[in-house]
Amino acid sequence: MEISSESGVPQEFSSTVRGEMRGSTLVVTIDNPPVNATGADVRAGLMTALDRAKADDVAAIVLTGTGKTFIGGADIKEFGKPPVLPTLPDVIEAIESSPKRIVAAVNGAALGGGLEVALACHARILSPAASLGLPEVTLGLVPGAGGTQRLPRLVGAIGALDMIAGGKPIAAGKAVEIGLAERLAGGDLVAEAACYADELANAPIRRTGTLPVSAFAPSEFEDLAARYVKRARGQTAPQEAIRLVALASKVDLQAGLAEERTTFLRLRDGTQSKALRHIFFAERAAGKPADISSFEPRSLAVVGVAGTGLMGCGIAVATLAAGYSVIALDQSPEAAAKGRERISELIGAAVKSGRLSSEAADEQLGRLVVSAEPNDMKAADLVIEAVFDELDVKIDLFRKLDGIVRSDTVLATNTSYLDPDVIAAATAHPERVIGLHFFSPAHIMRLVEVVRCQQTDPAVLATALAFARKLRKVPVVAGVCEGFIGNRIFSAYRTEAERLIEEGALPQDIDLAMEDYGFAMGLFAVYDMAGLEIAWARRKRQAASRDPNAPYFEIPDRLCQAGRFGRRAGKGWYLYQNGERTVDPEIDRMIADYRIEKGFVARAIGKDEIMSRLLQAMAREGQALIDEGIAGTADDIDVVLVLGYGFPAHQGGPMFAAAHGSDR
Ligand code: COA
Repeated sequence: MEISSESGVPQEFSSTVRGEMRGSTLVVTIDNPPVNATGADVRAGLMTALDRAKADDVAAIVLTGTGKTFIGGADIKEFGKPPVLPTLPDVIEAIESSPKRIVAAVNGAALGGGLEVALACHARILSPAASLGLPEVTLGLVPGAGGTQRLPRLVGAIGALDMIAGGKPIAAGKAVEIGLAERLAGGDLVAEAACYADELANAPIRRTGTLPVSAFAPSEFEDLAARYVKRARGQTAPQEAIRLVALASKVDLQAGLAEERTTFLRLRDGTQSKALRHIFFAERAAGKPADISSFEPRSLAVVGVAGTGLMGCGIAVATLAAGYSVIALDQSPEAAAKGRERISELIGAAVKSGRLSSEAADEQLGRLVVSAEPNDMKAADLVIEAVFDELDVKIDLFRKLDGIVRSDTVLATNTSYLDPDVIAAATAHPERVIGLHFFSPAHIMRLVEVVRCQQTDPAVLATALAFARKLRKVPVVAGVCEGFIGNRIFSAYRTEAERLIEEGALPQDIDLAMEDYGFAMGLFAVYDMAGLEIAWARRKRQAASRDPNAPYFEIPDRLCQAGRFGRRAGKGWYLYQNGERTVDPEIDRMIADYRIEKGFVARAIGKDEIMSRLLQAMAREGQALIDEGIAGTADDIDVVLVLGYGFPAHQGGPMFAAAHGSDR
């Protein structure tokens, strides 16, 4: 290749890596949208750049990226395909051993393989917008190109453990503070990086791999490791990460790198990582139905939220955080004032936990208006209803709003169980009605089911999807049916759990099987946490219309009749003492009596059978939803269950699990 040494003339090292001489510094830029992943072409380009830098006219190299990422990581789409040389570890080895000093000018996110590249560089200067992390555990992996061995050499074993086993990126300022980077840039990052290289010209090159891991207190390391093991709930990657970070201070670099690579390859080919990668891509593919791709979302500035209960306030908080103005409506000035208080409290909690600055909180609250006057909704571009889940109440509200808002204002209902087509039909413009089913607490949970009603205008659907994304939520499109995607599947596996109880399992057996599988909490513990009274009230309302010949599981009603409303009442499916849940023999007796009364003969049911029956019930219902056209794809179903119902991400969701099984 012909190489220009003329200053300012760009040269292509590959189609995604280019270089340019600035004085005697070779500035190498990675330009591989969307996230500058280190795919084969980037790796080849970097090798060519290093070759070029061997020439005498190059004194130092500055390595940077375009856009808002430095390097977003290895190209996950290459996993599972035949390897293409050079590998990332080859490139990283060449970077670290380069005879010319390499300064990483980290312009944005340096994640996974991206941070590993930066670690192998000889110095690091960060844009204030940079974030640095080794998030591999969130994909069921460990870093595979030196992260577990080099990071402890820069920041110590404890800091490295926190970043690698936790998987959370850190901000630029923190990275400098802990020694992960040397400088924060004040202005032109690349120019400052080049100056930095000049300043260092006479100093020996500092190669991360040659540094020792500084001494640390083993007990502190073990305590932190124990916390991550507990959080892992059956995921293997965090435990492997802990082992590898510990190894960095025990063996030499080459031995550590070899063990890390072997572990990485084993995890990459295992089911847990495949499951987590599946969810990563499924989340990003969700909410993009092909038939609306040509429709532009409408622009929204003012969002109305009708109802300031827990759900309405959560929605208002998420909407304010996304930069919209919010009008929160309730029935009386007192109720509206309470709503403002609740919204302020939720925003205040974010300030307290350090997730939000108090200036940002004030700015957000400055965009909130609360009102008891429906006519104030006139200004809204979108109104989300989150009032009591009762058809008459919702129809009444929608009719009222219909007469107040502009004809192109989108009207969304947050109903979980009612038929949004019936609500839409009660309005003069059913084409602007849609379902936006948030999950509680709405300012935290990332899932939103976007329910496409029979007459919803495609532009309204496009608008609702864009809105949900702006809220940093994951929207999944669902058709109309009772319970949409999530609650339909929930209902199917709840029924299966009830059958298991009739056949001989106890609630604690079912919960243990689920928790062992990776759910944070089993079904019955979740009921207790949520409280049993709301569902009981609904069952009582529906009692008259229930088919008397259909099977009906009576135990929950009996629990409520006995005042066992769940955790807050101190007893439900379990007993609660000082927040500890314990099995109550009274429940076992109640179930035994019930079985005798109904003629069920109990048998022993093991946890494998329990879990496989629950999974089959979910997957069967999921397939039915696809066949009925309610859900678009099996991937959408997995996203709903993982983000909305606590299905363990490392098991990939019920449809993935049905197709691929489990590692454990
Ligand atoms: N390899 C391949 N594709 C990737 C990727 C990777 N490492 N990271 C992101 N992408 C793709 C996404 O699938 C998405 O594709 P799509 O537009 O076709 O759906 C696109 O890049 C944008 O990603 P998105 O996450 O929507 O953008 P963002 O700006 O919100 O976030 C990142 C950017 C880099 C922070 C985020 O994508 C991320 O966390 N990536 C994974 C990082 C990681 O775990 N690296 C270690 C890999 S071992």
